[in-house]
This record gives sequence, C-alpha cells and structure tokens, in this order.
Amino acid sequence: MSHELTFQEEEYSRQLDFALWRRILRHAGRYWKQLLALSGAGLTVATVDVMLPLVTAWIIDEAMASGVTPRLWTYVVLYFGLCALLCSCIWLFIELAGQTSTGIAYDLRRKGFRRLQELSFSYFDVRPVGWLVTRLTSDVTKLSSLMPWFTLDLVWGSFLVLGITGAMFWLNWQLALAVLVIVPPLSIASVYFQKRLLASSRNMRRTNSMITASFSESISGVRTTKALVREEENLNEFRSLSTAMHQHCLRNALQSAVYLPIVVTLGSLGVGLALWRGGVDVLGPDSTLTLGVLIAFMQYAALFHMPIEELARRFTDLQAAQAAAERIQTLLDTEPEIQDSAEVRSRMAATAPHQAAGASNLAEDGCADTVRRIEFRNVSFWYKPDEPVLRSFNLTVEPGETIALVGATGGGKSTIVSLLARFYEPQEGEILIDDTDYRERSLHWWQSNLGIVLQSPVLFTGTIRENIRYGRLDASDAEIEAAARLVNAETFIRELDGGYEFDVGEMGSRLSTGQRQLMSLARAVLADPRVFILDEATSSVDTETEQLIQDGINKVLSGRISFVIAHRLSTIRAASRILVIDGGEVVEQGSHDELIRERGRYHDLYVGQFARQREAERLSGGEETGMAGA
Ligand SMILES: Nc1ncnc2c1ncn2[C@@H]1O[C@H](COP(=O)(O)OP(=O)(O)O)[C@@H](O)[C@H]1O
Ligand SMILES: [Mg+2]
Repeated sequence: MSHELTFQEEEYSRQLDFALWRRILRHAGRYWKQLLALSGAGLTVATVDVMLPLVTAWIIDEAMASGVTPRLWTYVVLYFGLCALLCSCIWLFIELAGQTSTGIAYDLRRKGFRRLQELSFSYFDVRPVGWLVTRLTSDVTKLSSLMPWFTLDLVWGSFLVLGITGAMFWLNWQLALAVLVIVPPLSIASVYFQKRLLASSRNMRRTNSMITASFSESISGVRTTKALVREEENLNEFRSLSTAMHQHCLRNALQSAVYLPIVVTLGSLGVGLALWRGGVDVLGPDSTLTLGVLIAFMQYAALFHMPIEELARRFTDLQAAQAAAERIQTLLDTEPEIQDSAEVRSRMAATAPHQAAGASNLAEDGCADTVRRIEFRNVSFWYKPDEPVLRSFNLTVEPGETIALVGATGGGKSTIVSLLARFYEPQEGEILIDDTDYRERSLHWWQSNLGIVLQSPVLFTGTIRENIRYGRLDASDAEIEAAARLVNAETFIRELDGGYEFDVGEMGSRLSTGQRQLMSLARAVLADPRVFILDEATSSVDTETEQLIQDGINKVLSGRISFVIAHRLSTIRAASRILVIDGGEVVEQGSHDELIRERGRYHDLYVGQFARQREAERLSGGEETGMAGA
C-alpha cells in the first residue's frame, strides 16, 4: 500500500540531499573531461565579462585624455579580441553541454532499461507502466540536461560575482560599497521568487500530466464511454482539470510579472547609486574618478544581477530535479527479487570455460542438462501477505505428462504456472526439477527450457516472420513456416497482404487476439522447449480453428512435460492428468474418463459446457439446415 501512494503523488524533499547528488554525479563520471572543459569555459567567460567594462573604461579615458593614440588602438583590438573569445567560449559550451547531456541521458537510459529487464514480475505488479516510462524519459532528460548547465553556471556565476566585486574594489572601494548595497535585497528577491515560480510550475506540470492522462484514457476508452453514456461526466471532469490548469498558469505568469521588474529595478538602483555617488566625484573639484571608471562601474552594477539570478535559478532547478534523481537512483539500486544465488553464479563461472571449449554436456550451471520430473512440494504462495493463493500445494509431474489445470477464474491456475516459470518464487516449500530446488539452478537455464504461451500474447513491431523467429533467432524460413503450419496459423497468414512479410503493427495491433495467440503458439513451437506452458493459449481462437490445431499441438506436446490451462474443456480430454483447482487446492484429479465416471466437479463443468456448446451448434446448425432446405 505504501508503495502505491508514492507512485501517485510525487514527493519533493525540501533540503538538498548532497549524498544523493554525489551518487548521481558518478553517472557523469565518464564525462569528466567535458565537465572540466565546461568549467574552463565558464571561468573564461566570467573573466571576459569582468574584463570588458575595464577595457571600455581604458578606451574612454585614453580617448578623452590623449585622443587617438597607438595605445587606444591596442585597447580597441583587445576589446574585439575579448568579444571573439566570448563567442568561441559560448559556442564551445553549447557544444560541450550538448555532448555531455546526451551522453549522460544515453547511459542512464541504458542502465535503467537493463535494470527493468532484470527485475522480477512482483516489481511490475505495483508500478504503473506510465510511471516507469516517465523514469526513462522525462526524469532522465531532466537530470542529464541539468548536470552540464549546473556545472557551467556554478563556475561562471561564482567567478563572475567574485570578479566583479574584486574589480570594483580595486577601482574604487567607496563606490564599490555603494553598489554592493543592492546585493542583499537582490539575493533575497531572487531566492524568494525562484521558489514560488518553482512551486507554480510544478503545479502546472502536474495538472498537465493529469490532462494528458485524461486525454489518452478518453481516447482509448471511447467505446466504453459511449456504451455507458458517460460523455457528460467525462467532459465535466476534463473541464475542472482545464480550469485548474488555467489558474496555475495565471499564477505563474503573475509571479514572473512581479519578479522581473523587481530584479530590473534593483539593478537600475545599483546603476543609479553608482551614477550618483560617482558622478559627484567625477564632476567634483578634486576628482578622484575618471569618466571611464564611472561607466565601468555602471556596467558592473547592471551586470551584477545576472549571476545572482542565474545561481538562484540553478539551485532551484537542482531542488526540482531532486525527486527525479531519487526516482532514477532508486530504480538503478533495486535488485531483482529473483536472481541467481551467489553459489549458482560461482558454479556458472566455473562451468563457462568448459562450455566454451565444447567439452561439457552439462547445463550452464554445472548440473545435468535434463528435465525429467517436476515436483511442487508443500508450496505456499501469496501476492499480498494476508491473502494466501496457494497453501501447501503438492504436485509431481512424471516424464512426458501433460497436466491440465481447470477450474473457476481466480482459483490459482495461472499462479501455479507463474511459479513454475519462476516469475515468482514460493514463499514456503520448494519446486524441484529432477529433485533439485530450482533456486539452486540457473534462472536463465530454466527459463530457456520453457515455452510459454499466455492468454494475451505480446507481439513486437515487425513482420509475421520476425515475430515467429523471436522464438529461436537462428531458425530458417522453412522452420518458421513449418511451425506456423503446425499450429494452423498459415491459413490466416496466407490471406494477409504480404503473407509472412505482413507488418503486425505496434504490439501486434493489426492482428486479432486469436491471430496473435496463434503467432505466439508458433513462436513457442519453433523454440522447441522441454516444457510447455499454455495458459488459455487458444481462448480467443474460434472453435473450429481450435479443433484443427489440436492435433498439431498434441503432437508437439507428446513426449514432453506440459501444463495446459484451457477454457474449453474439449481441448484437454487427451491430457494425462486433469487437476481441478479451486481456492488454490487440487479438489479432484484423474484422467478425463476417470473424472467423468466419478461424476464430481469436473463432470459438472464438462457436462455444462458440453450442453452449452451443443445448444450453440444446434442454433447455428438449424439456420444452415433451414437455408439448405429452402
Ligand atoms: N499479480 C497479482 N497481484 C495480486 N494478486 C494476484 C495477482 N495475480 C493473481 N492474483 C490473485 O491471485 C488469485 C489467483 O489468481 P490466478 O492464479 O490468476 O487464477 P486463475 O488463473 O485460476 O484465474 C486471484 O485471487 C487473483 O486475484
Ligand atoms: Mg488465469
């Protein structure tokens, strides 16, 4: 529960967490050269920024005192040289910052993606997909673009403040003190408003993402909405979201509208102070200040607010990105709940050289490469601690057996096969493969022995052929077509535009669920695994096609261990053993004939379904007979 909350509302910590940022900075470690160069560029720009008013002062004073002299020309050349240096530095840091941020983004995405692939099912049970996608997209973008610019501005800003202050004191300390009067109010105003602006833009962003979610829900759920006549309610919800958005935007605009004039006014105040104090000095009888120096002071005073404002902004950015940093770091730190134990890993390391030399017929974890018997021994399992799904479940599967699991929805059938596939591990008891607990075997070895077809299979963007080949990457075209033929998928593939080269669309969206199931079945057949798991694998295939593929499937299943969960009981009559599962327990088991004879639960289920099917056939068949008679 505590999990779910954090996914809905993003929490922002108030204080900067330096330990976290140090860890985040480590991800940028590969780019230390770029970051160093960026700091160099920042330092150079700050120096040039301090130099330009000085050179201006020299030019003015030289021209006023002695007219056009060679020295004046030197100053002018120096001035343009500094301008050119400034331009090249700006070009350099835009280039460097771009390189660094794309590099860091690439690294973080790759690390995050890999971690997501390693994580166990239980991790995804409690996290919405959208939340995970945001981690890899906007959080990464936020962090990676922040790092180089923060580095640059930190160096540039601090050196510019120091440089200007130093230069002013060097020129005239009394005037410097007068100008510095604006610094405290400027800093206070900057920090105050940057915080307010941060809060209001956060609200804007949050509301915006709610609007996006509302858009996409209403688009993908448009049929349901219409069917339930919910258009009006949805519109009202959307209207109130839009109103909130409007208010947040207004507040943000208002804050900017107040903040900018304040900064500009304070800056002008500094210039005014310099002009007033200095002007008196320049015009005074015993003038200690030249006109050039006065102008330099005014430029410094006008410049002063820039680094202060920029530093305040970057630190608020840092604070704003802290939540993103926390989320990314937490994702990268999450260890998969299910992974090979240290002992298995060391056995695998010891076996690897033998395998590479081709001198081993053992599995990659150094144990025998066979799957003969599978045993569930006193297995207990729950998704949530207070809701046990399986309690002391026992099942022994002998070589070549086909085990059918039947029973009402929610009985625990899918859970049993998920445990078998080690998508989850039992909390109590063991699952044994040839008498070895599967936690003592390599996860990769075990899962590569399984052919799993689920009720809603996932296809990937690409052609029919590519999708079937996913089962075994080195399969030939002929093998792919043979697999498709075996599961009777070729009939529909031939009718598609382009046949095997037909593009299935994003996640197979251009195929029906039944067609996707056939594809997934062909994929599993091609992989030729030792153990098959079919969880309602043909539930969306029409009855006739199902009858047609039944022979093919039975041929594939014969001689290997398989687990079949089928909605239509007619498809599992040939199973070696049928288990009726209810409330996580086996309430009946035996062959089809035995269970029918017993006249228990299975008998009732079967007769009920059979009667319904007969009724459906009678209705549709009746029509046909009528037509034929006419
Ligand atoms: N990922 C999950 N998280 C939490 N509860 C789950 C999850 N999957 C299944 N359950 C619960 O476990 C029980 C058994 O479900 P399942 O194994 O899918 O049954 P069946 O396949 O027989 O319909 C149900 O009460 C279901 O709500
Ligand atoms: Mg199920």
